[in-house]
This record gives sequence, structure tokens and C-alpha cells, in this order.
Amino acid sequence: MHIANRVLTLPQNKFERIDDKIAKLLKSGAKDLINLGKGNPDGRTPDFIIDALHQSVEIKENQGYTAFSGKQSALKAIAKFYLDNYQVELDPETEIIAVHGAVVGLVATINSLIDPGQKVVVSDPYYPTYEAATHLAEGDFTPIKVAAENNFLLKVDEIPADTDLLLLNYPSNPTGAIAPKKYFSDIITAAQSDNFSVVHDFAYSNIGFEAQQCSFLQASGAKEVGVEIFSTSKVYNMAGWRFGFVAGNAEIIAAIKRYHAQYYSMIFGAVSDAAVSALLSNQAFPKQQLELYRKRLNIYQAGFEKLGVEMNVPKGALYVWQPVPKGYTSEEFADLLLSEAHVAVMPGNFFGEGGEGYIRLSLMVSDDEIAAAMHRFAAKDLFKAKSLA
Ligand SMILES: Cc1ncc(COP(=O)(O)O)c(C=O)c1O
Repeated sequence: MHIANRVLTLPQNKFERIDDKIAKLLKSGAKDLINLGKGNPDGRTPDFIIDALHQSVEIKENQGYTAFSGKQSALKAIAKFYLDNYQVELDPETEIIAVHGAVVGLVATINSLIDPGQKVVVSDPYYPTYEAATHLAEGDFTPIKVAAENNFLLKVDEIPADTDLLLLNYPSNPTGAIAPKKYFSDIITAAQSDNFSVVHDFAYSNIGFEAQQCSFLQASGAKEVGVEIFSTSKVYNMAGWRFGFVAGNAEIIAAIKRYHAQYYSMIFGAVSDAAVSALLSNQAFPKQQLELYRKRLNIYQAGFEKLGVEMNVPKGALYVWQPVPKGYTSEEFADLLLSEAHVAVMPGNFFGEGGEGYIRLSLMVSDDEIAAAMHRFAAKDLFKAKSLA
């Protein structure tokens, strides 16, 4: 059987490596695994969204094909959501497309903008889909390492002059970084002078612990250079429902619409209606969730305090991005936590070379599991430098 080279050379889904290790541990009889590697919200989708779906399934219009770029009701609701929450005006006709979640938004956007060999720049560490999507477009994937000392922000003067597309993600998975509006303005100035497009992945909107991340589209000139990708997965506990959208520059949106209609066709109308109910709600649910995640952050903090280890407190998103003790690589330390404490974490190098030296711990796990994991780390004194003996 011939398999396309495009697929054979796709970067491996590194998350599967963790799944394999977990499966091995479970097969060996371990019954007490705690998985802090998760990126899937642990809570239920709110009832009002589920109710909206139930009602919408009955509607005849939703049982057939819907519009390729999203139902009118969804595009209008998205425009209202951006106006109410970010004071950004969007034309539902030309500046928005609904997609099956941020991953589809990313793959469609990158493939609509990038020709083979064109340079796609990301800050490293990065969400792995950026690399895979660039690979599919045959782009030149160019990660640039970012440092804790610079709040994990890519320095604007380090963006290569021959960049074709810059991918940003704040709040950041995995670092938890948040970008000030001035940073976006500086990026826009660079994009205008060096003539590159900007895509901002806003999958963790509304998940800031000190302050909320502004929208990229709030920065002046943003719509001239780029788009923002929004997802309902994390904010409304809707990861399995597959709904998101891309908004911003009309020329980019027109290109994505053309590509999207061929590759992804359309979103189930009832899912779209349910997402509309989320977007037009009073936004009490994301606020309530934020308090739940903040409580979990505090449990991690108390645990690290007991361990005598300084915690790298995230500014946003749903992970703790923690340096590993001296002497370990990310993967060695993750393996140690799995074998000694039966706690799975994501090794930082899964998010690019810039993630080496870190592990990622999830906030999408119950309070009790986080407390139990931290207790196990303390009981076995695992967060200490590797012994050289
Ligand atoms: C940075 C980032 N972008 C995009 C996604 C994917 O979101 P969606 O479920 O909307 O495809 C995730 C999911 O974890 C993410 O962390």
C-alpha cells in the first residue's frame, strides 16, 4: 500500500508516547494512576448548553446541510460576543468563519496562507499542532526559543525579517504566559514593516489568574495583518463538541472560507446553536470555572511549598509549567514521577526544544487528585536534584 509522504513525514503525536507509558503501567497492575498530563476539561458542559443542543436537534433546518462558513445565527452571535466582551466590531459576512474547533481553525488558516517553503515562526515551546499544520502546508517551521526571564514572550526583534506568518498563543499552552496589549501593538508594527501575517490562537480566552488576556483584535491595526482563532472547548467545557471560529482580516477569512468549504464542509447546526447559547450567555460559567481552576492552582502552590520548591505560577491557561530538578531531562523526570509515584505529567520537550527542562501539570484534574499527587511527590521526596552517585 502506498502511503503519502506527507503523512509518513508528519511529526509524531508525542502525546501518544505518554498514553503508551500509562497503558504499560496499568497493564503491570497499577491501580492508583493520577494523570496530570490531561488537556481535556474534567467538568461537564453546563446544562443550559446541553439543553440548547437538545432543542436544536429537533429543528428540521439543523438536520440538513448548513452554510459552509457557519450559520448566520452563529456569525451574528460571534460578532455580538466580540463587541460585548472585547469592544471589537466584526462584520459577520466578511470577517468571521465558524470552524470545528481551534485545531481545524489552525490547519485551515495555515494552509490558506502558506505556500511551500514559506516561513512560519512560533515561539518555542509551542502547541504541537502548529508544527503539524505547517508541515501539511509544506511551510518552513521556525521555532524560536523564549525564556522565563522575558515572561516567555518572543522578543519582537528576534522575529526574522523574512517571516511569512507569525503564530502567537496567549494565554499560552504550555507556559501560561499572557501578552500585554502593547506587545500585540509592537508585533503589528513589525508585521506591517516586514510584511508578514499574524495568527493569534486564543484557545484559553478568559483563563487569566491575575488579569485577562486582551484579544489580539483589540490592538490597533490587528485586522490589517491578521486573525484570531477562538475555541469553545476550554472556556465552556465543550472540547468534544468541536466549535470555534476564526475572526479578523477579511482577505484572510475569504481565503479560509474557500479552503474550508472543500476540506471541512460544515458544522452540525445543533452544535452551532448550542455554541450560540454559550456565546450569548451572561458569561457566569467561565467566571465560575476560573475560580475552580484558581483553587486548584492554590493546591499546587501549597504542595510545592511543602516540597520546598519554588513554583512557576502561570498567569493564564490551564497548566503549571514547572522546571525539573537539576540533573534531569524533562522526559527522565516525567518517567521518574510515573514509575515512583504513578503520576503522569507531560514532559516539556513534547512542546519543542524550548520546553526541555520543564514538565507540564494540568489544572483539568480534580482537587483531590492534585492534592494526592503532590502528597506522593513529598512522601517520596521526588522533586530534588538527581543524585550523581
Ligand atoms: C493552544 C491550543 N490551541 C488549540 C487547542 C485546540 O483547541 P480545540 O479543542 O478548539 O481544537 C488547544 C487544545 O488543547 C490548545 O492548547
